[in-house]
Amino acid sequence: MRQHLDPSLVSLKAPASFAAEQYQGLRITIEQLKRLRDVRLIAVTSPSAGDGKTVTALNLAGVLACGSDARVLLIDADLRRPTVAARLGIGAADPRGLVDAIADTNVWLDQVTRQVDGFNLSVIPAGVTRVPIHEILRSPRLERLLQEARQRYDFIVLDTPPLLPVFDAATISKLVDGLIVVVAANQTPRKLLAEALTLLDPATVLGLVFNRDVQPLFGYYNSSYRGYFGEARTA
Ligand SMILES: Nc1ncnc2c1ncn2[C@@H]1O[C@H](COP(=O)(O)OP(=O)(O)OP(=O)(O)O)[C@@H](O)[C@H]1O
Ligand SMILES: [Mg+2]
Repeated sequence: MRQHLDPSLVSLKAPASFAAEQYQGLRITIEQLKRLRDVRLIAVTSPSAGDGKTVTALNLAGVLACGSDARVLLIDADLRRPTVAARLGIGAADPRGLVDAIADTNVWLDQVTRQVDGFNLSVIPAGVTRVPIHEILRSPRLERLLQEARQRYDFIVLDTPPLLPVFDAATISKLVDGLIVVVAANQTPRKLLAEALTLLDPATVLGLVFNRDVQPLFGYYNSSYRGYFGEARTA
């Protein structure tokens, strides 16, 4: 039975839609960075809660995996409020994930990796946390697991918590090749964005993604551009 995918996962559910097309732009940038600098491990973060990190991480992983031979892994590294597995409709039977592989040296990546039915996309859920999160994220074992993932996959996308209330994402940012910072259009305060960026090494920030922009083409979508897209816009 096909897993239930969240409607915001437009890159897999509605690849011909206007919303999905916006992720194609992100894909082109990431694929180019891969060729230029082997950017392989990419974390998606944002200044505050609810900016759209998880939606962006899901769609970025989806768009990279769709219609290509690329081996793509999505890791839920938001260990405090993980939602990736639920949005992909996986993991109910086996709750193990990243933290289990970090905490138990007998558990390896393939034992906590799931496939999204019908798509060339692998996923590692967050798992069940028993130890303090800052200890987990500082564990050398996490670095080893990410190295292993780097050898097996062309792209590894990590969903992370917001940058400001907790320091998890800042810790993770030290382990990846690049960061995508999500900004919720008309929502994320400029001051918070500035503060969040001070926590990151500017060299690793690949760019900002404006999420939920209601007029991404300055209103043209509703008139001249509509004919280009087969399905309704969902984001
Ligand atoms: N582009 C979008 N289109 C449709 N729904 C969206 C979009 N972006 C975000 N949402 C919705 O807004 C809510 C918050 O998005 P999301 O969970 O991706 O944010 P987040 O930054 O990961 O939040 P948290 O900080 O709690 O992890 C979700 O219900 C999500 O489905
Ligand atoms: Mg999230």
